[in-house]
Amino acid sequence: MPVTTKRAKTAIAEPNIAFIKYWGNRNHTLRIPSNGSLSMNLEGLETRTSVTFDPALPADRLTLNGQPVADSALVRVSAMLERVRGQAGTTHFASVSSTNNFPMGAGIASSASAMAALALAASAAAGLELPEKDLSILARTGSGSASRSVPGGFVEWQAGSSHEDSFAFSIAPPEHWDLVDLVAVVHAEHKATGSTAGHVLAESSPLQSARVADAHRRIEICRRAILERDFPTFAGIVELDNNMMHAVMMTSTPPLVYWKPATLAVMESVGRWRDEGAEVCYTIDAGPNVHVICTSKHRQELAGLLRAMPGVRQVLEATPGGPTRLVPDP
Ligand code: DP6
Repeated sequence: MPVTTKRAKTAIAEPNIAFIKYWGNRNHTLRIPSNGSLSMNLEGLETRTSVTFDPALPADRLTLNGQPVADSALVRVSAMLERVRGQAGTTHFASVSSTNNFPMGAGIASSASAMAALALAASAAAGLELPEKDLSILARTGSGSASRSVPGGFVEWQAGSSHEDSFAFSIAPPEHWDLVDLVAVVHAEHKATGSTAGHVLAESSPLQSARVADAHRRIEICRRAILERDFPTFAGIVELDNNMMHAVMMTSTPPLVYWKPATLAVMESVGRWRDEGAEVCYTIDAGPNVHVICTSKHRQELAGLLRAMPGVRQVLEATPGGPTRLVPDP
C-alpha cells in the first residue's frame, strides 16, 4: 500500500559484534560480501529511529542525537529512503530522527543499528510490511553489517551471490547462550578510515583471497561451537578469524592499522585470563576497541579487571539481543 498520509514510524535496532567477520565485497554498490559472517546482537546498546514521509518536505531531513545533519550521513540515509520510495511507489521526502545510546565511532558498528532501524522505520512509514528476509536485504544495502542486526540473537549472514540471496537469519535465539560482550573502549575518536573504504582496500591485500577461501570452514566451526556452546572451540576460531581480518587490513595498500598500544595490552590480558581458566576471548572491528567476549559467570570479575587497566577509558556491557522491532511512537 503506497503512502498517502503523514505518519511516523519508530524502530529500535541493536548493533552486533561479528565472530566471523565481513571484510571485502564482491559488489560494493549492493554490498554483496566476499564471505559469509556470524554475529550476536548487543542488548543494552541501541539506535532508535523515527521516520515520517511528508508531502510538504522539499528534501530529506536528518537529525542525529538531536542535531540536524547535512553531510555524508544524510546522503547515505537518502540512498536508503530512495530504495524505500521505489519499493513503496511514493515520491515524498522524509524526516528522519535518530538517537544512539552508545558512542559513535567507538568501534561499535553504529552503522549496523542505524541502517537496520532506518530500514524498518522507513519501510513501515511508507506502508510496506517487509518480511524479515527482505528487511535484512534492504538494511544490507545501507550497511553490510546492518543485515545481521535485523534478525534476533545469534545470526548468520549468508554471502549469497545476488541482491536476492544475500541476507541474514537467526541461528539461535538470544537466550541460547549467556555470552557477554565487554567492550573495552581504549579510544573514542572517529576512525580515520571507515569500513566502507576498508572493504574496497581489502582486495589490495595478497592475504584476502586466502582469508575468503577459508571462510566457509571458519563459519562451519563457529556455527557448531555456538550451537553446542563449546567455548574453547569458539574462542579459537573467533580469535583466528579476527587475526586474519586484521592481517588483511595491515597488508592492504595503504595499510590499515587500527590497533593502539592499549588494544594489544587488552589482547594479551585476555590470553592470560584464558590460560588461568576463564572462558574469554577477544575480537576487534575496524577500530582500536576490544570486544572481550566471556560467559556470564566471568562477567563481573573481568569487567573489573578491564576497568582497572591503564588505557581502558570505559567498558560497555552487552548481552545477546533481540531483533530490530517497531515501537510505539514517542
Ligand atoms: C570490521 O558493515 O560497517 O565490523 O557495509 O560499508 O557499512 P559498510 O561496512 P560495515 O563493515 C563491518 C566491518 C567489521 C566486521 C563485521 O562487522 O563483520
